[in-house]
Order: sequence, then C-alpha cells, then structure tokens
Amino acid sequence: MVKKQRLTFAEKIIDWYHQQKRNLPWRETKDPYKVWLSEIILQQTRVAQGLPYYNKFVENFPTVKSLAAATEQDVLRLWQGLGYYSRARNLHKCAKEVVAKGGVFPNNFMDLKKLPGIGNYTAAAIASFCFDEAVPVVDGNVYRVLSRVFDIDVPIQTPKAQQTFFEKARQQMPPELAATFNQAMMEFGALQCVPKNPDCENCVLKRLCVAKASDKVELLPVKEKKIKVKQRYFYYLVHQEEGKMQLKQRQERDIWQGLYDFDLIESEEEMKEEVLLKKYKARGVSKIYKHVLTHQIIYARFVLIEKKPQKTFKMYTKREIEKLPKPKLISQYLYDIGMLNKVN
Ligand code: ADE
Repeated sequence: MVKKQRLTFAEKIIDWYHQQKRNLPWRETKDPYKVWLSEIILQQTRVAQGLPYYNKFVENFPTVKSLAAATEQDVLRLWQGLGYYSRARNLHKCAKEVVAKGGVFPNNFMDLKKLPGIGNYTAAAIASFCFDEAVPVVDGNVYRVLSRVFDIDVPIQTPKAQQTFFEKARQQMPPELAATFNQAMMEFGALQCVPKNPDCENCVLKRLCVAKASDKVELLPVKEKKIKVKQRYFYYLVHQEEGKMQLKQRQERDIWQGLYDFDLIESEEEMKEEVLLKKYKARGVSKIYKHVLTHQIIYARFVLIEKKPQKTFKMYTKREIEKLPKPKLISQYLYDIGMLNKVN
C-alpha cells in the first residue's frame, strides 16, 4: 500500500488560500504601481477601510506619473482619514523618485528597498507579487501565524524578530510559488489565525501547530512592553469673520505635517474652561475632543475668539475649507459647527 504523504505547512496554507481567499483588486494585477499603492494603504488600515482609498487613488492617479505630477495637497486630501500623514508624503516622494528615474518601478527586492517609504515588507510584497522573486513578506499577520505554528517566542517589534521570522518564512516558502505563499500567509493571518479567539478546531493547520498542541495560542506572538503614551493638550484659537475662518498649514516636524488646522496653543497641562475664557477673552469654548494616536492622546478644545488673533493667517470660505487636507479632529469639529457637510 502506498502511504499517503503528509502535506507540508506551505502546501496546506496554499490549499487553504485557494479555497478561502477574498477577491481583492490588487490581487488581479501585477502592476507594481498598483501593488505598491495597495500595500502602503494596507500598512495603515484594514482591507475593508483600505479598499475605497485604493480605488480612489487608482481612479485619480492611474499611473505613477500622474501621482508624481499631483500636488502634495491633493495627495494629502485623498489620504485624509487614514492618519499617519508622513506615509502619504512619502508615497508622493516615492512616486516622484520613480518618475525621475524613468517612470518604471525596480523589478527586484534590493532596488525596491532604495526607494523612500519602501522597507523590507513593501519591497518583498512588490518583488514577489509582481516579479515572482522568492523573498518572504513579514507583516503582523505573518508574525502571528509563524509564532504560533512554530512556537517562536522572540518578542515581535525587536530587530531579532525581523531576522528570525524572515528566515523562518524563507525556509518554508516554495521558491516557485513565492507570490501565492506570501498572499496565503497574510490572508491566513487576517481570516483564520486571528489575534483573539481563533477557531483552532476548524483550522487546516491544527495538527501541525505547536502552539495549539501546547495550548499557547493566546500567548503568541509575544509582544514587548507597551510604549508609553504621551498626553497632549491642544487649545485651538478659532477666528471666524463673515462666514470665513482663519486656518493655517502645519509646518512643524510633528504629527499632521502639511495638513490644515487653526492657530494652536499647546499646554503641558489641562486648562479649564474658565481659564481659557479669561485668558483668551473668548466667546466660548468647545467640548473636549479626544483623539487617540499610536503614541499619543490629544485632548483638544476650540476656543472661539472675538478679536483677530495676533498671528494672522489666511481666511477661508466654507467651500475652500472643504477642499483643504485636514486632520480628522479638525474635520469633526468643523462638521459639528456646521462648516462642513460631512466629516471626510
Ligand atoms: N494586507 C497587507 N497586504 C495585503 C494583501 N496583499 N492582501 C490582503 N491583505 C493585506
């Protein structure tokens, strides 16, 4: 009798992928521009939220040349709502660099990595999906799958983890199926091997998974201690006159560089409403808007001032404001006071 050979990890995960994968537009193309766009967007958000952004970008900028020719403001405006705006600025910078070098994306991992905003992850995604180069992608999903299946307890977000997981993925990858294997790993992490309460009983890897056998699924991957979150107090001086509002573009090397907000006073400590009213001879003060970012929490209040502020900036009409790229916090406030018809 011929003994049936056990399927390997790669075979099982690829089989699973062929049966379970979602049809996503960036999986229908080998155009490095579109794959790059999708991967940059998906580093910032989940598939469901990323999809409309991907479609918007492809529609507005169908080629790397058209993206490079856009203004930074247009790119930021389209990116608006995704957060982490330095990514959008890098996206634009990268497009310009590709165009400056002839308008064609490099066709291999090493050269892709030389472009701004393209690290190991994005370079591996483009090189494998578009050019079938046998280099593994390692993202949060891949960390989770590998750490569980092979019981790897190196804390993620350490340089050692990068190396360990990259090497593990490389060993498992069938070189002639790099693109499929990489997509399968990411999809498996997104749909099956999820962070909380994965359905291990109905998993094609259940006989292979070391964490399952030792009841450690919930303990992996190991994460380093949480980074401290900084609290920031923002007081925006809002000046309105004849239906126009004074806004300014953020120049500082800080969050939201290039986006528009109001004249900002930042305080180390919270200021009470009475203090704000008195200090700025204000007509009123908004509620507190809490805005949570990865490493900081912002508590913002909008202080309506009577007189022109000392620092003067351009005044914008409602229609102009709609077109400016703005942080979500600002859009929300403008919506609340009726200066925007929708938040985004
Ligand atoms: N997340 C990051 N890249 C992805 C991809 N190519 N498909 C699905 N989810 C992803």
